[in-house]
Amino acid sequence: MTTPSRLQVVVQEIIDETQDIRSFDLRAADGQSLPAFDAGAHVDVYAPGGYVRQYSLCNDPTETGRYVIAVKREPNGRGGSAAMHGSVKAGDLLEISAPRNHFALEPGSAPVLLVGGGIGMTPLMAMVETLLARGIDFDLALFVRGRAFLPFAERLGRPQLASHMRLHFDDADEPEKIDLAQLLGEVDGRHLYLCGPDGFMKAVRSHSAHWPTDQVHVEHFAASREEASEGEIRQFAVILAQSGKELVVPADKSILDVLRVHGIEVPTSCEEGVCGTCVTNYSDGEPDHRDFCLSPRERKNKLALCCSRAFSSSLRIDL
Ligand code: FES
Repeated sequence: MTTPSRLQVVVQEIIDETQDIRSFDLRAADGQSLPAFDAGAHVDVYAPGGYVRQYSLCNDPTETGRYVIAVKREPNGRGGSAAMHGSVKAGDLLEISAPRNHFALEPGSAPVLLVGGGIGMTPLMAMVETLLARGIDFDLALFVRGRAFLPFAERLGRPQLASHMRLHFDDADEPEKIDLAQLLGEVDGRHLYLCGPDGFMKAVRSHSAHWPTDQVHVEHFAASREEASEGEIRQFAVILAQSGKELVVPADKSILDVLRVHGIEVPTSCEEGVCGTCVTNYSDGEPDHRDFCLSPRERKNKLALCCSRAFSSSLRIDL
């Protein structure tokens, strides 16, 4: 794994938002301001035990002095969330990457529908602040297991959010349920921003299949192999634009693997198409995109080297 540039932060405060979600208030270790970010951005967090995980920034992007992330403890996870919950204390130093954003709000003033499932609400929390500041019409629909599982209760309880927000509790009776067909029935020029667990995303995607693709913006937590691609896995070639070199990518290797074998280092983090660290421009060929971070528009000239393959016999990449 190649390391992108890192920032040192100190954990200023940890808040138990719910029984299994903690928020972490991170400040620059040198006391300076942190790099600016836009709503939808995430950082890689280098957690104790060697885990690297991506967490969305959920505070107001106008706050230049801190990043706030929220971490749900996943008892059956791969260890990253357990390390964040079990080993990180207030006052600890952590390393993180600079913010990256593959889930940014579109420019303009089109109305917005934000739909979040569980911990998937985190990037939407930053979006809410930006939309309020810009005076853009928006609705926020949050789906959680029950009222006790709703994080950020104080922020969500602000009076200025009351007319924008709808809550769905799995364990409640009507009217504390949201009908997805009704919520997503009318497009009305709106942009949909969606983040949540796989099953929830699938349900929302199936009810929003009639939405124009460039008005649907999705953020995945982790790679879902099932959704990645139906394309056949076969050999293809990458042509390096700067040198003209042609490298063969066998069916059992990624572009990234082949670049490494040839001594070409590319910054990476998740290596499963989620974080966007390895995204690179291409100019020729038809990629079989297997990432979870690029929008349809970005996919026209960018691909993720860690997971993308090719429908064409070759791809010309900007390296
Ligand atoms: S390294 Fe994360 S998308 Fe490729």
